[in-house]
Amino acid sequence: MKSLTSRRQFVKAIAVAGGALALPAFSYSRVLGANERLRVASVGTGGKGWSDLTGVAASPAVEVVALCNIDSSKAHLGQAAEKYPEAKTYVDWRKLLDEGKNVDGIIVSTPDHMHAPVSLAAMALGKHVFCQKPLTHTVHEARQMQLAAKKNNVVTQMGNQIQSHEAYRTAVKIVHDGLIGKVTEVHSWQGGSPSWPRNIDRPEGSDPVPEFVAWDLWQGVAAPRPYKNGLYHAFNWRGWQAYGTGQLGDFGCHILDPVFKALELTAPTQLVAEAPPLKPETWTDRATVRYVFPSTSRTAGETLNLTWYDAAGAQPPREALKNIPSSYSLPGAGSVLIGEKGSLVIPHVAAPQLFLEGGQPKTDFEKVGSVDHYVQWADACRGEAKTTSSFDYAGPLTETVLLGTVGIRFPGQTLKWDADKLQITNLPEAQPWLTKEYAKGWEPTWVKV
Ligand SMILES: NC(=O)c1ccc[n+]([C@@H]2O[C@H](COP(=O)([O-])OP(=O)(O)OC[C@H]3O[C@@H](n4cnc5c(N)ncnc54)[C@H](O)[C@@H]3O)[C@@H](O)[C@H]2O)c1
Repeated sequence: MKSLTSRRQFVKAIAVAGGALALPAFSYSRVLGANERLRVASVGTGGKGWSDLTGVAASPAVEVVALCNIDSSKAHLGQAAEKYPEAKTYVDWRKLLDEGKNVDGIIVSTPDHMHAPVSLAAMALGKHVFCQKPLTHTVHEARQMQLAAKKNNVVTQMGNQIQSHEAYRTAVKIVHDGLIGKVTEVHSWQGGSPSWPRNIDRPEGSDPVPEFVAWDLWQGVAAPRPYKNGLYHAFNWRGWQAYGTGQLGDFGCHILDPVFKALELTAPTQLVAEAPPLKPETWTDRATVRYVFPSTSRTAGETLNLTWYDAAGAQPPREALKNIPSSYSLPGAGSVLIGEKGSLVIPHVAAPQLFLEGGQPKTDFEKVGSVDHYVQWADACRGEAKTTSSFDYAGPLTETVLLGTVGIRFPGQTLKWDADKLQITNLPEAQPWLTKEYAKGWEPTWVKV
């Protein structure tokens, strides 16, 4: 990592770019006729990418035309290539885009650090994008994704599929129906203890790169480092700052999503984190982030306090949870929305629990059925639906989540946020962490370096 001074200059440069994307001024997206199939490519076909791909391809109107993975083994590229034998296979997503004139839409299911590079390049070519959560690795990238989707007029969806599940849809309806009145306070938590590495230093040494893994392409925009078996690829990259976004980044876009939808939140005005000092390269194993949002038509008072807790067994303090009877066991992860007329528990993921004032449970609320988050995107690309987690929604949600991860770098210090200017207005040393430096040769055109 370069010095702080050079990081400052770097950030000044991107602030000057001010969202002015170096992207083509027009979109190439094909307007599909009613009987035409949507031709889809998948980048990152293993892990979550497998269910993203099969989820989208469940639509009879979708044809899978290209598959990309840096790992050609059975679990990653292999099984996808077997299932979709007509699709052309790639190791390098840039080659796929170069050759992909026939691709209408792309599914991006790589580790977090590659979401924006792949998605922005695809949108610049007029491709519709389904991209996993969190939408990006940095706050600045999340803003670029919103701008690019709009500029290129493409259909987008973030992969926070629980949004489309009956549980979250019903919770949002309960709030919109006024059953808990206006909301005064929110507590959200993830009490699970993930298996991926946190709070450690980078082990020394290296392992031979398996012949089926293109390690340089996996690293992509991140600074090159030696390969270590099982430490990063696959799945365990989450704990490393260079690739992932820690527990808040991993779960925030799920757990805070029904809160955002229900309360129509956009950007916080400030936040402060409590967390142990970060190791240089990994994320912490516990954090509390206290956000303040401006009021909305769904909230009471001038501001809304939302507190996020993550740690093994983390839960909000019981005394803070008005209307929740002590006999009720909180779920391992979820949210409590405290309203003027009652409180709503939104477990991650199970049916919402509604308690009226004094703790009386209420169960006779209207349920809202699930919809298919993946097929919704495919249908929307064909002009037959609207996505509910398009980048103009998912961008601000991701910015909020990732701002929390910036706060974790400065425990105990309040970060005041000006979303319009994309600026932390009171703590200049935090501002550089809205973005990052990109590896030599991988500098994206949308960041002026
Ligand atoms: N929505 C959900 O519920 C959910 C659940 C799990 C993961 N995710 C998200 O999905 C994404 C992937 O997570 P995962 O757990 O599947 O990770 P993973 O490491 O298990 O899988 C990533 C896949 O992408 C491939 N890949 C990596 N870099 C690539 C590149 N540059 N080009 C092409 N292929 C590449 C890998 O080989 C692997 O097949 C992350 O953003 C994660 O946050 C979402």
